[in-house]
Order: sequence, then structure tokens, then C-alpha cells
Amino acid sequence: MSFEEMWAELLPVGRDAATGGYHRFAWTPPELECRAWFADEARRRGLGLEHDPNGNMVAWWYPEDGTRTGAVLTGSHLDSVPGGGAFDGPLGIVSAFAAVDLLRERGVRPARPIGIGAFAEEEGARFGVACLGSRLLAGAIDPARARGLTDADGHTFAEVVHNAGLDPHAIGPDEDLLGRIACYVELHVEQGRALEEPVGVASAIVPHGRWRFDFAGEGNHAGTTGLPDRRDPMLPFAHMVIAAREAAERNGTVATVGKVRVEPNGVNAIPSAVTAWLDARGPADDAVRRTVLEVDEAARIAARPHRVSVDLAEESYTEIVDFNLALRDRVRSVLGGVPVLPTGAGHDAGVLSARLPAAMLFVRNPTGVSHAPEEFAEPADRLAGVEALAAVLDDLARG
Ligand code: GLV
Ligand code: MN
Ligand code: MN
Repeated sequence: MSFEEMWAELLPVGRDAATGGYHRFAWTPPELECRAWFADEARRRGLGLEHDPNGNMVAWWYPEDGTRTGAVLTGSHLDSVPGGGAFDGPLGIVSAFAAVDLLRERGVRPARPIGIGAFAEEEGARFGVACLGSRLLAGAIDPARARGLTDADGHTFAEVVHNAGLDPHAIGPDEDLLGRIACYVELHVEQGRALEEPVGVASAIVPHGRWRFDFAGEGNHAGTTGLPDRRDPMLPFAHMVIAAREAAERNGTVATVGKVRVEPNGVNAIPSAVTAWLDARGPADDAVRRTVLEVDEAARIAARPHRVSVDLAEESYTEIVDFNLALRDRVRSVLGGVPVLPTGAGHDAGVLSARLPAAMLFVRNPTGVSHAPEEFAEPADRLAGVEALAAVLDDLARG
């Protein structure tokens, strides 16, 4: 099965026919279909399929001598953001299967296991915390907190993984699996316009996080409630959105309010509550922290005259990730000095880099758009990515 054949199989899964955007949220039917596709691809190649306790999957190509340790792991994720593109995540997984095929065609016999990982809930689109599967694996989130995370329908992570056949009490760091992996190399579509060549290597992931603002006021009638009598949480929320843009400009960061929930969300009702999520990222921790503090302060000042309360909760935060220099240099030497670039996007490779050497390959994105249907990589660049990944895996799996 060629890259393009695999790609074509996955392409319709979870795609909204009207917008072309993908809705593949962890353990929902489209994502389960992607998981089944992954298992089929593993089976078709005779790869051993491992399910870890956290909903992550690994397809293993083991050396003939039965070596199980010192593995080289590649892969990415199958889930998407709401209305996301086709490439963010799946490109890394399809490329990984294609790279294994290429190595086999060339008669390569790896001395170390090569694994293809599919990490659960990378986007955090269902339970709010990005890279949840890799965070659990790496011990970067308290399992008790993860169990209690809820989706938009109020289902807890514990319930959902239980229904998926996992034991919610077994989630958490998997030292056995981590101990078998020597390094992780994730191939990913570039998510901006920074890469002008077909393939590049990541230097760093900038600090980034997610914060939830809860504005609570009083629900009331839109026609009969005079302006002085209102406690309308929509007003400080509106200030907060503008404040995020202004704070980002002052601090040299980026800040986004991309998700909002309004209660009860009626045209003719003053809302009782507004919940808004702030995504903030920037070159340094202090700039990101200052951005959030300034937004919080602006929200509170705006809320006071309307007698609205404001609560701020940090849902996730990832400090700067500087990818392992030795691994990056080795990857670059295999690829012949391709560009090195940082990214403002989060990845499982960033989370795992706290526990093992990790590296990333980026594949050029001519639209520069990501988390939207226009996300793209040209067929020739996809193949360049597969060649690059194959070369890197071949080198790293030699011993
Ligand atoms: C994931 O792609 C993120 O950066 O939010
Ligand atoms: Mn993404
Ligand atoms: Mn991704």
C-alpha cells in the first residue's frame, strides 16, 4: 500500500463535506475509525500492536533477533481540532508506515525496534488538555486530574477510556514502555510559512498554554431588564477578547480566544455565564505569563461595574522545549543540512522530550495555514518527508 493509497483511505474519515474540515475527537466514531485503520496497517505489515494504558498505540517492527529495547519511535496523532486540516497528525503516521515500507523494500534490517506511535488526544479538543496521551505516558499530568477531565457533554475521561476498554485506574506513567524507547522522531506538517524547503528540523517549541476564564453574572430577560439592573457577563468577556490582542502586542506574544461557551445561549436572554478559553504563546515564559496576567486584570476591571465575577484557571502549560541537540545534529547530518526552525505549535515530541531525546521533521506547507481545511503539503513534499524519515530511522536503528 503506497503513501497515496493510505492517504486516500484516511481522507474521508471525519471530514465535514460542507467545510472540508475534520472532526476526529478522541474516542469518537471518526477517531475510532482512524484507530482501526492504524491497527489494520500494522496487521497488514506484520507489526506487533501494543496498546499502552493511556490510549496510545504503538506498531512495532522488531529486529529478527528479538531485541525489544533501545527502540526508535516515530509517529504522531490521529485526532484533530474542530474543523482541522487533514495533515496535522496523520501526515506523521502515514509517513511512518510509508518509511517502514521503504526500508523493507531496500532490504534494511534494523538492529533496534522501530515503533510507530499514535498518541491519544494530542489536540486536547475533547478533554481540554493538549497531548493528554503523551503527558500521561511521560508522567506530565496527575492521573487523578486526567480521570476527572470532562468533555462538552459532561463525560469524564475515566468513563470514556473505560468504555474504550481501558482501566481508568491504570492510566499514568508507563516506565516499561518509556524504558524500551531510546528516542522519538516525529514528522509533522509545518504549521506556518517558515519552511521554504521540502523538509526541515525543529529546534524548539515556544512556551504555550491554555487558560479558562469563567464570567458569572445573572441570567435575565433581554427585553424587560433595564441596563442598570443587568449583570451581563458578555460585556467583560468582550473586553477580555480585545485585552488579549493588546496584551499580546505589548508582550511580543500571541494570544487567541478561539472557544467560548455561553449560558444559556439564547438570543433573547442576558447570559448567566460565559466561559472563554485563552491560548497564549510566546518566545519566553515571562512574556507569556505577563500576557495572561494582563488579560486577567483587564477582565476583572471590566467585570466590576457589571457585578460579574471572574475566575481564571490554568488548564495546561508547557515550558519552552529545546530539542536534544545531539539528536538534532545527527538528524541534520543524515539529511544534509536542512533548515532548522522553531515552532509555535505544541507536539507530543515536546512532551516526550522531558523523558527521552526527541526530534521533529517538518514538511513544508505552501498555504501556511493549519488547524483549518487549507492546511496542505504537496505530494512531492510528502514523499520527500517519507524519504527523510526513512533515512533518519535507518540511521538511528542501526545501533
Ligand atoms: C497543537 O497543534 C497546538 O499547538 O495547539
Ligand atoms: Mn494541531
Ligand atoms: Mn499535531
